[in-house]
Amino acid sequence: MDDLVEPIYRTDALIAEDIDAYLDRHQYKSMLRFITCGSVDDGKSTLIGRLLYDSKMIFEDQLAALEADSKRVGTQGQEIDFALLVDGLAAEREQGITIDVAYRFFTTEKRKFIVADTPGHEQYTRNMVTGASTADLAVILIDARKGVLTQTRRHSYLAKLVGIRHIVLAVNKMDLVGYDQAVFDDIVKDYAAFARSIGIERFVPIPISGFKGDNITALSANTPWFKGPALIEHLETVEVDNSADQARPFRMPVQWVNRPNLDFRGFSGLIASGAVKPGDAVRVLPSGKTSTISRIVTLDGDLDEAVAGQSVTLCLADEIDCSRGDVIAAAGNPPQAADQFEASLVWMADEALKPGRAYWLKIGTQMVSATVQAPKYEVNVTTLEHLAAKTLELNAIGVAEIATDRPIVFEPYTDSRALGGFILIDKLSNATVAAGMLHFSLRRAQNVHWQAVDIGREAHAAQKGQRPFLLWFTGLSGSGKSTIANIVEKKLYALGRHSFLLDGDNVRHGLNKDLGFTEADRIENIRRVGEVAKLMTDAGLIVITAFISPFRAEREMVRAMLPEGEFLEIFVDTPLAEAERRDVKGLYRKARAGELKNFTGIDSPYEAPEQPEIRIDTTRTTPEDAADLIVERVLGVWSPDL
Ligand code: ADX
Repeated sequence: MDDLVEPIYRTDALIAEDIDAYLDRHQYKSMLRFITCGSVDDGKSTLIGRLLYDSKMIFEDQLAALEADSKRVGTQGQEIDFALLVDGLAAEREQGITIDVAYRFFTTEKRKFIVADTPGHEQYTRNMVTGASTADLAVILIDARKGVLTQTRRHSYLAKLVGIRHIVLAVNKMDLVGYDQAVFDDIVKDYAAFARSIGIERFVPIPISGFKGDNITALSANTPWFKGPALIEHLETVEVDNSADQARPFRMPVQWVNRPNLDFRGFSGLIASGAVKPGDAVRVLPSGKTSTISRIVTLDGDLDEAVAGQSVTLCLADEIDCSRGDVIAAAGNPPQAADQFEASLVWMADEALKPGRAYWLKIGTQMVSATVQAPKYEVNVTTLEHLAAKTLELNAIGVAEIATDRPIVFEPYTDSRALGGFILIDKLSNATVAAGMLHFSLRRAQNVHWQAVDIGREAHAAQKGQRPFLLWFTGLSGSGKSTIANIVEKKLYALGRHSFLLDGDNVRHGLNKDLGFTEADRIENIRRVGEVAKLMTDAGLIVITAFISPFRAEREMVRAMLPEGEFLEIFVDTPLAEAERRDVKGLYRKARAGELKNFTGIDSPYEAPEQPEIRIDTTRTTPEDAADLIVERVLGVWSPDL
C-alpha cells in the first residue's frame, strides 16, 4: 500500500548519481505536448500507464521539486509494478470528477513529454478542450473490438477545433482480436472517411495493445504486417518544431514592459510567429506606430535573431507608446484589429451563456469587455449537424458573433492559436466560462468609424449649467421606483435642472416593444436603456431611469459606460412580501396564480445591489422624503464651475 501513497518513480540512475548532469542532459531535449482521448473502457489508463512505465517517467511535481532543489534529492527511486501503477491511475480517475485535467510528465532519451489526461465522458468536453488547447498531438484511442464510435468522432472534432496538428489513431486491444490485420484496416478506412469530412487531412494509425505492450516502444512480432512506427517512436520523432509558426509573419504579444531604469525600455513576450532581427521595421498594434528593433535581449545575452516559440525582450529605436496587451508585428505585414467577430465557442460553465451580457475576453495578453450575441447555431458534435440555439449550455459548442468594447489585435485561429484563441471570463465570479476561436472579423467593424464631433458632452453640459448624472433606480416590480423617480424629476425641474425620465413600462411600449421578460430580453432591455441614457448624459442631461434591472452584471456594465461619479445606483429596497402586499398592478397575484411567467422575485431572480450609492428603505421612508434625499445628494455634488 505504501507504494501507492508514496510518490513513486522509476529513475534514471543518473538522477541519484549526479542530478546536475541529469538535468543538463534533459534540459535541451524538445518537448511534445499531447493528449489522450478515449475512455477507461478503451484502455486509456492502461495506455498511459504503459507510456509512463516503458519510458523513464517522473511525475511532474517531482520534476519541479528536482529542479527547485537538486541537492535535496537523494532519494532512491524504486522500480514499480506495472499493474500497480495502472490501478493507481484508474483510482485517480474514478475520484477524478473533480480533477479537470491531469498533466503527467515523462521523458525518454530523445524527448520530454507532457500528456494531458482528461476524463473521457461526453460531459467533459470542457476538460478535453482545456487539455487539448496547448497540445501538439492527440492520441485518439479506439477499442479494436468496437471500432469508430460516437466519442471517437467527438474527440476528433474537438481536436480539430482546437487546432491540433498531429493525430494518432491508436487501435487498442489488438490482442483481443487476434492481431487481425483486417480488423485494423477496416477501422482505419472507417476513420479516414470521417476524418476527411471534418477536414483532418492526415493521421497516423497504429495497432497497439496497451496491456501487452505491443507496438508501444518497439514494433511487435505479433503484428508482422505493420510496418511502423511504434507509438513512442512516433511520439519521439513527430515534428513539433513550430516551423509553420516560424514561416508566418512576425508577431509578439507584449506581456510586460521592462523598465528597470531610464536608460532601458524593453518589451517582453513570447514570439507567437515569425522571426525578428535587430534592424527590422516593426509596427505596434493597435496604435499602428512604427519603429525599428534595436536589440533582442535575453537572460543569456543579446540575440542576432529570435523566432516563434522564444521568450525575449525587444528594444525599439524610438520612444513610442507600447504597453501590455499590444502586439509588436512586422511593419509591412501587420495583423488586423477589429471589434466584431464570428467565433466558435465551447461553453464551460454550469451557468449557460447569457447573450448580450458583458464578459471579459482574454486573448493573448489583451483583456477587453465583450458581449456575445445569441448563437447562430449549436453544433451537434456527434452528427455534426447545426442546430438552432438561443444559448449555449455547459459543454455545448456553437458559433456566435462577438463584439468587444475596443478593437483587439487578432488573427483567425486557424492561422494563429496565440492571436485567435481566447477565453471568456465572468466579470463577477471571475470564472472562465468559455473557450473560443476567432473565425474572422465582421466587415461592419472595419467600415464603421467613430465620428469626432465638435460640440462634446462638456459643451452640452456647460450650456445647461449643470453636471450630467445618471440616476439609476433598481428594485422589484412595485417597489416604488417610478413613484420616487417621478417626484425626483419634478423637484429637479422646479429647480431649473434639465432632466429626462426613462421608465420601464413606457420604454417597453416603444424602443423595446420587441422584448419580453426572459433573461436574454431583460439583458438586452438594460443594454439599450443604458446606451440611450448614456447618449442623453452626453447631451448634458440629468437622466433618471426606473427599471427593475435585476442583474448586477448589466447594472455594472452601464456604470462602466459613464465617467466616474456620474452613475448613481439607487436601490429602492422593498421586501418582496411588501411589494406583493401592495401589488399595485395586480401582477403578483397573476404570477402566483401561474398566469404570468418569469416574474421577478417569484420565478425570475433579482440580484440586489451590494454597494448602491443610495439605498431607500420604503418601509420607513416616504416617497417624498426619499426624493428629497436623492435631490440633495445630486445637487450636493453638483459643482457650478464644472
Ligand atoms: S427589467 O427586468 O427588464 O428591468 P422592466 O423594468 O423593463 O424590467 O419592466 C418591468 C415592468 O414590466 C414591471 O414593473 C411590470 O409592470 C411589467 N412586467 C410584466 N411582466 C413582468 C415580468 N414577468 N417580470 C417583471 N415585470 C413584468
